[in-house]
Amino acid sequence: MATLLLHLADFNEQNWARRFAAAMPDTRVVLRTDDFEPAEVDYIFVWKPTPDAFAGLTGLKAVLSLGAGVDALLRHPALPKGVPIVRFVDADLTQRMSDYVLANVTMHQRLFTRFKRDQAARRWVQLYPAAAWETSVGIMGLGVLGLDAIRHLKVFGYPLRGWSRSPKRLDGVETFAGEAGLDAFLGGTDILVNLLPLTRETTGILNYANFRKLRRGRLDGGPVVINAARGGHQKDADLVRALTDGTLGAASLDVFEVEPLPKDSPLWSLDNCFVTPHIAAASSETTGVAYFSKVITEHEAGKPLPNVVDVKRGY
Ligand code: NDP
Ligand code: OXD
Repeated sequence: MATLLLHLADFNEQNWARRFAAAMPDTRVVLRTDDFEPAEVDYIFVWKPTPDAFAGLTGLKAVLSLGAGVDALLRHPALPKGVPIVRFVDADLTQRMSDYVLANVTMHQRLFTRFKRDQAARRWVQLYPAAAWETSVGIMGLGVLGLDAIRHLKVFGYPLRGWSRSPKRLDGVETFAGEAGLDAFLGGTDILVNLLPLTRETTGILNYANFRKLRRGRLDGGPVVINAARGGHQKDADLVRALTDGTLGAASLDVFEVEPLPKDSPLWSLDNCFVTPHIAAASSETTGVAYFSKVITEHEAGKPLPNVVDVKRGY
């Protein structure tokens, strides 16, 4: 019988344990507070593991990550070497992220910041926003989330651009790859959407110098940045500067360098900055239990693990 250890901060571990036990009657599901032999744990399911999370787990077959992004997990100083990490890839989470992207792209294309300001000033000015087909959207990251966002944005008719590490051909999308393709990608982008994993290469990529490379003149007020990936991608101070001096017209930020966003951050009070508290796409208990139960059951039956993280690449 396989043993699954749950190690979930900020989540109701009891609920998850109950549901895992119901989904996999042949698996022993244990919590950190239970009496168990660490060496007998086959799988650990983690979210924000504590420094001693992996202590004594000498028989691990896989680390299961509740997060779709594994940057924090990969930085864990005691992450067991050579044990595969399976990340969460889920249609429900993906749909939630696409909702977030679509809502924010359309909001900025329709110049919500400008009309909110006009409303506050009781100013009636009939400025017609550029049409969707005139407003380019550039997606950084053409993985599970980026591709699904593109699928949804296509329906609205936005000219789409995509940037990834390796070159890609995508129907109806102008694609760019690597360092060499970044400036050209940014140069034609009105609304920039970040859906990259956080790695050494992508840390701090949303910075002032790159904001200045975005296309100007199409969106009233200036280009827009939407970050729904990781706070480490952005420099909060550069965003404040760019949103204040007109380099950017507006931003939607779901993630921040420090979370929760400190009370004294100027981002809270900028009227062209739309702040959400890292809620773009939460992992759901129902689909999470279904996904990871299948991973464990199939692996126990001899099948390969899906969505294994490439530790060297960092995602
Ligand atoms: P994937 O691993 O499926 O896709 C990653 C994409 O980024 C790939 O296209 C990859 O390129 C590209 N990429 C990686 N490194 C670089 C680089 N150096 N330069 C250019 N492109 C690069 O990830 P997902 O789409 O599943 O998720 C993306 C991120 O979203 C997660 O890592 C997580 O941090 C974040 N996230 C945030 C949530 C929130 O609520 N805020 C919720 C869920 C996820 P290539 O195709 O060539 O490999
Ligand atoms: C994730 C997240 O990576 O919620 O899944 O940020």
